[in-house]
Amino acid sequence: MIPSATHKIAVIKGDGIGPEIVSSAMRVLDKTAAQYGFRLSYKELRAGGCAIDDCGVPLPSDTLEGCKSSDAVLLGAVGGPKWDSMEPSLRPERALLGLRAGLGLYSNLRPALLFKELASASPLKDAGEIDILIVRELTGGIYFGDNGMYESDDMLPDGSVKGVVAYDTEAYSEGEIRRIVRQAFELARGRNKHLTLVDKANVLRTSRLWRSVAGEIASEFPDVTLDYLYVDNCTMQLIGRPSSFDVIVTSNMFGDIISDEAGMITGSIGMLPSASLGAPGTPGMYEPIHGSAPDIAGTGKANPLATILSAAMMLRWSLDESEAASCIENAVRGVISAGYRTPDIASGAEGEIHVDTEGMTEAVLKFVV
Ligand code: IPM
Ligand code: MG
Repeated sequence: MIPSATHKIAVIKGDGIGPEIVSSAMRVLDKTAAQYGFRLSYKELRAGGCAIDDCGVPLPSDTLEGCKSSDAVLLGAVGGPKWDSMEPSLRPERALLGLRAGLGLYSNLRPALLFKELASASPLKDAGEIDILIVRELTGGIYFGDNGMYESDDMLPDGSVKGVVAYDTEAYSEGEIRRIVRQAFELARGRNKHLTLVDKANVLRTSRLWRSVAGEIASEFPDVTLDYLYVDNCTMQLIGRPSSFDVIVTSNMFGDIISDEAGMITGSIGMLPSASLGAPGTPGMYEPIHGSAPDIAGTGKANPLATILSAAMMLRWSLDESEAASCIENAVRGVISAGYRTPDIASGAEGEIHVDTEGMTEAVLKFVV
């Protein structure tokens, strides 16, 4: 008999609701693995606020090393008010940026899908069908550019003194743009063959480089329609005509902003998963888009579905277990159409079954068949 594959998962539960939602996802993963004949071995690692409390830094080196030697990383959420006053290099968010940079995770896939049963949770009055994949560049741009702060005695034209000056720099190389845009084209090819590059090319030089690189790559994908939108216009169009989008590719900063907007229009950020990917063969990182929600930690109100769907993305993108991934995604579809609702997606409509984190996890487990 062929021994079943064992996938090594680095687990970072993190802060706030992180431990609750990751535990839910692990239960769903374990049942799915048993069903599909593979094994998962977990190694729990610390990052974020809990790592600051335990060892004084948000991303201990053994955490990064542990992630590098795994097949994939499953992460809950990091941060909380307790650590908000830490100096910038010691804030919990640094752990995320350190993991992204340290693992070379340049591509962040953020699917925003509106389940038709949850249309009433969308703030749009006629949301239609929303199925957007945001491909966000994740290790370049203003997040990682040159930055600094200095004191200046120079005068502004109105005669006042400049004083402290802080700066963050947006820089992109052709190589960085090319690899993410090519991946976005490939993803669009497997979907509705429509790619939108979101930028600010009327103002920014970096955006003009994105356009010229995307234009070149477009010739390799004659079957995919490429169009362009300025980011300010994009924020309006996402609300006005969300169903006309398929794949969006964009820079780190613009992707951060529009993916929150996409989360809102699809009803609840508690439903949205993400995958962060690097070079083929290196471990990807999977996490819900939402944060650590310290206000509801420990209350059972957290929606575990974004993390469960992130676990499904992990099976598909890093572990080559796409049937098991589809099984989890179908189970989530199943619980939504059966009416199970955590507080963030409950509308009070007839037929809803109101559940807590545990109840939602149990429901998904029942649908994993
Ligand atoms: C995200 C978050 C992070 C980001 C923060 C927590 C550093 O907002 O993943 O969208 O800005 O990338
Ligand atoms: Mg964000």
